[in-house]
Amino acid sequence: MEYGHFDDTAREYVITNPKTPVKWINYIGTLAFGGFVDHTGGALICKGDPALNRITKYIAQMPNSDFKGETLYLRIKQPGGYRMFSPYFVPTLDLCDLYECHVGLGYTRIVSEFYGVRTDMTIFVPIGESRVIRDIKITNISDAPFEIDAIPVVEYTHPDALKQLTNADWVPQTMVSKVVDESDGRKILVQYPFMLRDIRVNYFTSNRPVSSFDSDRKRFLGDNEYGTWARPHSLQRAELNNSEAWRGDNIAALMHHLGVLEPGEMRRLITQLGQEESIAKALPRIQYFRDEQNVECAFDELAQLWDDYLGKLQVETPDAAMNRMLNIHNPHQCHTTKNWSRYLSLYQLGYGARGIGFRDSSQDVMGILANMPEEGKTLIRQLLHVQKRNGSAMHQFNPLTMVATMGDAREREDLPQYYSDDHLWIVLAVCAYLKETGDLAFLDEVIPFYESGKDAQLLETGSILDHLRRGIEFTRNDVGAHGLPLLGFADWNDTVNLRAGAESLFTANLYGKALLEMLDLMRHLGDTASAEKYRVYYSIMKQRVNECAWDGEWYIRYFDWDGTPLGSHTNSEGQIYTNGQSWPVLAGFAEPSRACMALESVYRKLNTRNGIKISTPSFNGFDPKRGGITTYPPGTKENGGIFLHTNPWVIIAETFMGNGDRAFEYYNQINPAAKNDRIDEYECEPYVYAQNILGDEHPQFGLARNSWLSGTTSWAYQAATQYILGIRPTFDGLEINPCIPHEWDGFKVTREFRGAVYDITVVNPDHVSKGVKSVQVGGQAIEGNVLPIFDGGAYQVHVVMGERPA
Ligand code: NOJ
Repeated sequence: MEYGHFDDTAREYVITNPKTPVKWINYIGTLAFGGFVDHTGGALICKGDPALNRITKYIAQMPNSDFKGETLYLRIKQPGGYRMFSPYFVPTLDLCDLYECHVGLGYTRIVSEFYGVRTDMTIFVPIGESRVIRDIKITNISDAPFEIDAIPVVEYTHPDALKQLTNADWVPQTMVSKVVDESDGRKILVQYPFMLRDIRVNYFTSNRPVSSFDSDRKRFLGDNEYGTWARPHSLQRAELNNSEAWRGDNIAALMHHLGVLEPGEMRRLITQLGQEESIAKALPRIQYFRDEQNVECAFDELAQLWDDYLGKLQVETPDAAMNRMLNIHNPHQCHTTKNWSRYLSLYQLGYGARGIGFRDSSQDVMGILANMPEEGKTLIRQLLHVQKRNGSAMHQFNPLTMVATMGDAREREDLPQYYSDDHLWIVLAVCAYLKETGDLAFLDEVIPFYESGKDAQLLETGSILDHLRRGIEFTRNDVGAHGLPLLGFADWNDTVNLRAGAESLFTANLYGKALLEMLDLMRHLGDTASAEKYRVYYSIMKQRVNECAWDGEWYIRYFDWDGTPLGSHTNSEGQIYTNGQSWPVLAGFAEPSRACMALESVYRKLNTRNGIKISTPSFNGFDPKRGGITTYPPGTKENGGIFLHTNPWVIIAETFMGNGDRAFEYYNQINPAAKNDRIDEYECEPYVYAQNILGDEHPQFGLARNSWLSGTTSWAYQAATQYILGIRPTFDGLEINPCIPHEWDGFKVTREFRGAVYDITVVNPDHVSKGVKSVQVGGQAIEGNVLPIFDGGAYQVHVVMGERPA
């Protein structure tokens, strides 16, 4: 069964069946103001922080049929009453004649037809504004006139989102709503928890006169709330109750009598849900956005922003699903993870347990550098603020308060209170930023380390280069019995939590990769002494890894505190881990024969038609000595599931080995756009990567979960653009080094790099997977395969793949 289709021209995915297996969402606005909208119009909106400044009440765990956050009711006057329904399908669940949810770039547009009424609703946050606009066009598509009313409704939450769920005494006693009557019959419903009355308020309003309203949910639903969201009692009467909530569950419902619509006639209703310091301050912009043309202008500006963002890198390959992802949906998702890290989705509920993840955002940022390097720079700066003086990093932080924590480690005080990998990712992120932009001055910027003294004064600052150096030194000194990095509470895999003294091969390899980046940087800066130092660090770790971690056919993943290997053929569970094999290749630690064998072991033991599993065989039973991984049933998440984030790393490793066919096979088998006809198995949105798919040890093999906020998106984008298509920024220019399926005749890429636009055509006459025979820029042959850096302009680049003549 299919639930929708891609519309590449409009850059949308169009959902045509509202009963998707799980809610499918889209993001509007940014963390500064925004959230997500589900495909039936429900919305979770916040300003600055979903934990501490949440606006709408969206309880993700309630059934799909429930009202969540916001909806719209329409009602057609009939003899003796009304035919009432929601054009969003939820919560009234009427049968529709047409349903289309257009998942767009920064907007969702829902078009539906019920009972001769066509409703076309575009939902978005204008750039830089703290308001959600719903631009609603209601048209009579029947052949008879009817009289129609429109009642948009929002349900508020206490801004402290967790308190809303845990405190049913203080929260309802504080929640207040008031009406502001305007002279022209329009109304603004203002809402706030009492303590914020003079600091900031939420509001809901529209562009049309309002005859009545409700802000007390009890009154709106009626009958002591035995009236339901599907059939609110108050909608059976001509007018709402004009309830100003002095306490309780606050909503905003506005009654609009739109009058009689003749066949073909349309009315336009524009609603605004926003937040401002006060209504007086909000009024001018409220007025501005009541104007239809201003709303259209704001929508056009949004489209322009996305044009600019996507225009930085466009591809034309022989694979339509790859083009679709690389040109639209993958960079869209990278933009989302850059904004929301792992904070707010249908799965990461934004109650404050997470926040901005240090390792997560360090990787996310690498997915947007080609498209918006300045924003990437700002995020990198923010991340560096939570790096500690010893070079390690706090695991996550709240973006409003910048208070950081050690994440899940806090729940296991018996285990080390740091993650061994966090600080190494930022080395990769900073170097990627420098290669993209050439902005070396960034290295000299001074940023404080996280710790402050009793007087709340920060204790130490350091240049960005100093931050990177400290990260390297932390790992160099934090080693165990084999000289490998200690695991800490965990490495990238949060769920393997071994006792103090355990060592991580992942961190050893990530350290190797970070050292390669530092070496490259030092050479570029002309700091030969540092380059030599990092070269020595690198070869020491390379030797240790190869001396103690080769298991015969693959690499071991951990050494436990007592020296027992994990990820070895000697284990009965967790014999082989995917990251254990890809990362020695990425770090350059694995010599070709071992690299080939390790990657072949991944193919043989871990690959499935739905993607590569993280490890096998799964653990089957809780074991506190192994940690979180054993809390999952076999085949789930990090316990033998297809944890997608790991897959692009194998793809990259395969390109290092020149295996373009295998790399593309792996890319294709996890491409969500290629899953559109398997949704009843897969369930999640086919337009974004999910974090995990159940593995083949699970009865529901193939079922995806935790879509949107996953490191998969950044790495899939990097793997495809920089390693399969091979267009890679370096300090010296744009390197062209593709590794493609041998049957491809070639491909095209348009890439903006350091202000110049490169129109690159790659041809593959000999049908090789790797190798560049010649490169011409503007008709002139160049030496090697690195395109020179230009000062602006547009350049035609012609690349011929094949064996370079001796
Ligand atoms: C999801 C977390 O966000 C990420 O930081 C971690 O690396 C993976 N889970 C694997 O455990």
